[in-house]
Amino acid sequence: IPDHYETALKSVLIPHGVIMDRVEKLAKLIVQEATGPLVVCCVLKGGHQFFADLVNYIKKNVTRGGNSVPLSLEFIKVKSYSGETSGDVKLSLTDEECKEFSGKNILIVEDIIDTGKTMVQLLAKLKKFSPESVKVASLLIKKTPLSNGYIPDYVGFAIPNAFVVGYALDYNEYFRDLDHICVISDIGKEKYAIKN
Ligand code: PRP
Ligand code: MN
Ligand code: MG
Repeated sequence: IPDHYETALKSVLIPHGVIMDRVEKLAKLIVQEATGPLVVCCVLKGGHQFFADLVNYIKKNVTRGGNSVPLSLEFIKVKSYSGETSGDVKLSLTDEECKEFSGKNILIVEDIIDTGKTMVQLLAKLKKFSPESVKVASLLIKKTPLSNGYIPDYVGFAIPNAFVVGYALDYNEYFRDLDHICVISDIGKEKYAIKN
């Protein structure tokens, strides 16, 4: 844990090594189940670390004699408006970009399914452009009463209903630079609050 986050965290929920072991297993499963070339699509910003490690493990698995799966890599930026009740999601995804997905096998890579609103809206938009198939890998799924019931195809860990940060998950853009997935402390919420 870097010094600047020492008091800002309540606990380590998933240590980095445990994350990596799980990501390796998910990669193996994805390679086994792939039926052809895959478009691996990173949902920025939170998905970037999982995406990077997952793609690395997929490459290693393919090289070591797994299924031959050519990958192409895509990036989309999605931001849920923080006024949680609105449930609106801002997709930086033009129709032009969406056309790239038509007829392809897509694997969307996301860090966390919380309420599920982001993923449901993203999938609805993608499906309008008739991809061959769409699967979703999310490192985390949160057990929350606010869930809309969406469950991804590949899940790393189901986590309790707590605000988690690290491994690219942020609180006001901080904590992405933390290896482990941690629960933020009250001091952390205060220290890294948005200040005007
Ligand atoms: C977070 C997270 C997911 C989404 C999950 O992204 O990375 O994309 O919220 O929430 P939901 O299931 O309730 O929709 P955020 O909008 O914070 O953007 P970021 O990835 O850039 O941090
Ligand atoms: Mn996100
Ligand atoms: Mg965020």
